Order: sequence, then C-alpha cells, then structure tokens
Amino acid sequence: MDLVVVSNRVARAKANEPMTGGLAAALLPVVEKSGAIWVGSSGRVRDNATKDSFAEIETLGTGALALLDLPAAHYGGYYEGFANSALWPALHSRTDLIKVSQDDYQSYREVNAFMARALMRFRKPSAMFWIQDYHFLALGAEMRDLGVRNPIGFFLHTPWPARRVISGVPHHRELVEAMLAYDLIGFQTDDDRENFANYLRLDLNLDVDHGVVTSRFGTSRLATFPIGIDVDGFAAQAQRAASHPDVSRLRKSLHGERLAIGVDRVDYSKGLVNRISAFDRLFEMQPSLKRTVSLLQIATPSRGGIEAYSSLQDALSKQVTDVNGRHGEVDWAPIRYLSKGFSQTVLAGFYRAAQVGVVTPLHDGMNLVAKEYVAAQNPIDPGVLVLSKFAGAANELDTALLVNPHDIDGMARTIATALSMPATERRMRWEAMMAKLRAGTIHDWFASFIAALETTQARIGPNLPSAMVRPLRAVGAPVFH
Ligand code: F6P
Repeated sequence: MDLVVVSNRVARAKANEPMTGGLAAALLPVVEKSGAIWVGSSGRVRDNATKDSFAEIETLGTGALALLDLPAAHYGGYYEGFANSALWPALHSRTDLIKVSQDDYQSYREVNAFMARALMRFRKPSAMFWIQDYHFLALGAEMRDLGVRNPIGFFLHTPWPARRVISGVPHHRELVEAMLAYDLIGFQTDDDRENFANYLRLDLNLDVDHGVVTSRFGTSRLATFPIGIDVDGFAAQAQRAASHPDVSRLRKSLHGERLAIGVDRVDYSKGLVNRISAFDRLFEMQPSLKRTVSLLQIATPSRGGIEAYSSLQDALSKQVTDVNGRHGEVDWAPIRYLSKGFSQTVLAGFYRAAQVGVVTPLHDGMNLVAKEYVAAQNPIDPGVLVLSKFAGAANELDTALLVNPHDIDGMARTIATALSMPATERRMRWEAMMAKLRAGTIHDWFASFIAALETTQARIGPNLPSAMVRPLRAVGAPVFH
C-alpha cells in the first residue's frame, strides 16, 4: 500500500521550531514512521500554478513531504475566504461570523480541483489517499471526476455541528454531496458523526444504516476516530525539556508562585476572553490568591487577515492590560501574555512546570493541548487539567475538572479548586487520564483509520462504481472551470 496523506498545512521535522496547529503536530510523527507521502501547501502561492508546480519534495522519516504552491488568484478566497470565513465559523457553531462571497466559493472549489490534479502524480494502482480536514471537503469528488478508483478516506479535525448550523454555509448541500465521494469519513466524536448522519437523513433524504450510506455516487462509511498523541514520546520530551533554557528561566521567574498555563491559537473558538475573565473573577473572589498564582497564556496569532481574528487579538490585548492593571503590583502580573509560538519541546517543559492546565474552548474538535498537558506531568506530583466540556477531549479525559466556559464564576471556582487539590486526588485523576491516553494514541488513530479504509473498500467495494460515475457538477452545482 502506498499512502498519500493530504492536508493544507504540513509540518517539518524541526523540533526546535514553533509549529502551528494540532493537525500538523499530531501527524508529523506518524507520517514519518509510516513511509507515506504527505502533500500540502508550501505556504507560497504562484501565478498560473500548474499540475507540475510542486515546489519541493523532501525526505520525511521513511516517507516524503511534497509541497505545492497554490494558485495565487484563488488562495485568498480559498483559505481566508471560504475555508476560514464560512466553514470554520459554521463548524464551530458561529454562523454569525460567516462572511463570504460567491467568488470565495469558486476559489475553494478551484483549489480543491487544483489539488486533485496535482495528486495525479502519486496515482498508482496500490495508492490509497487520506485527505485531512475542512479545507478539502470536495477534493475526493474532484479526484473521482478525474477517474480515481483507489480508496480515498477523509478525516475531519473540527466538530461537525447540528444540521441547522451547517445549513448556514452557502452551498452546504453541494459540499456534503461531494463528501460522499469518500469511501470513509472519520469524525472526532460520536456526536459529530451523528450530526453528519442526521444531515444526510433529513436534508439529503439518504438512509444511513450502521454508519453506511449509499448515495447515487456509491457507498461511504461514517465512523469515529478520536485523535490521540504520542503519549510516551511527549512525556519523555517534557522530562528532558526541564533543562531547556526557556523552561529554566520560567521556573526561576516563579519564586515559589504557582503557574496555570493556556496554549492556543488566537481563535474565537478557544474561549480566550472567557478564560481571562475567569482569572479576573478569581482574583476578585479570592484576593488572597494574588501573588500565589499567575496565568501564562501563550496566544499564537492566527489568520490575522480575517477581521474576526484581528479584532479578537486587539480585544485580548486590551483585556489583559485591564486585568493586569487592576490586579497587578509593581513586582507581580497576574497574566503573562505572549503573542508568539514555541517549539513542541519548550511547550512540553512549560506544561510540566505548570500546576494547572486551562483548556477552555467554546467548541473544539478534540484539543490536543489538553492531552499534551496531561502527558507532560510529573507522575509523582501531577498538575490538574481544567477542561471545557465542549472540547472533544472531554469524552476521554472525564477525570479532568470539567467546566462550562460560559460560566465565568464557575470557571473561577474550579481554578481555585484545582489550586487546592491534594496530591492523592491529583494523582488519581491523572492516572485515569493517562490510562485513557495510552488506550488511544496517535499511532492507534492512524492505524485504525487506515485499517478501516482498507476494509471499507474490500467489504463494500470502491466508491463510485464506473456505471454510477456522474460528475458532481452535473447535479446542479455551478461550473467553475
Ligand atoms: O482542524 C483544526 C486544525 O486543522 C488544527 O489542527 C489547526 O489548529 C487549525 O485547524 C489549522 O489552522 P491554520 O489555519 O493555521 O492552518
């Protein structure tokens, strides 16, 4: 089997450089070991990009990384436009933030079609394709149009919301129909999978039987594959990182004070404003905690060209200044706010140095920071994870202190509970979480998806039997080429 993994963002194997996004960081170790070819955006664009426009193909572990320059004319409409100003807000149940044009949708479809053509370079009888995430909902359909019969799987790293919510995306119907070109569609949680199945049943009038749906395009299987991390690898990295200069500097700066840590891209789904408000409330409710604990919030700027993101960055800077101004003292700040990224190694060391991990998204597919925080802890003296019940990770990490991120007072009280939790209870909760993490590592996730994709095609036959092949555009979607 020759596996081709496709995602918009890819990662390079440089342990000392910051990495953006859970997907890239999570896939790196498994892709390296699997011998797969990982295809993604080079981060550059090119005019008149053609199918030969792979900027670089380089070795990645036992496999390779193939970087593609995307078409300049369509990149903005695809990435900042349709993917991140229509799909991302809807997938995170923020339809109020949808802001797209018809041109954005055309660009999204163009980039999906462009990627499909580029992937033909890796087409051979033994190839299996695994497409990642919401950037490429229509890629499988474009590949089928080009005659690809090989197995094609898809995994969604974000949540899939209720049918009414996804219906807020222009062209939602065409996109979901296009997704049925995939043999296997994987979700983070059962709720996501059920939301998708309900859309198929109620909006597309399709039968979904034991997770198998037959459409006029063929047969697809829906299944849940909660993504994990390399637990023991990350734990070892955290232990080693103790001697890293940045980690030593952090520890020295604490002078016995305790540390809570949050690590997020600046994104409205992450609940950062509510989190800072909870710390504000904590110091109002329990002024005696001042100088005994502070929050280190690493807030990596993200998608700054989109107004919802740039205004959030501004709002957060103001809020942190206000909270620090009111509660801070000449030699103490309640919130240490850093707008930059750190390498996985340094983050692992920071997590281990923090007594509380605060992961409080309003809505999140999985959230691997929650899992990494747990894996990084010292087994003798582990910290406490305060986790939003709206993160996919809460399904497994149910012995974390689960919070409702909309309940600011409740979060403040829970952070106080975390700070006073006795070691025996901390160890008990942590051991239960580690057992769950070990039962579902990133290696298990990868292997189980691939095994399911192999058996799906073997069991129910290739998607799109040739007699049924009908270009999706023939069913009413606009023609853009
Ligand atoms: O689905 C989630 C995800 O792919 C994350 O892995 C990552 O945090 C983000 O979306 C991608 O962000 P970016 O737009 O920076 O590539």
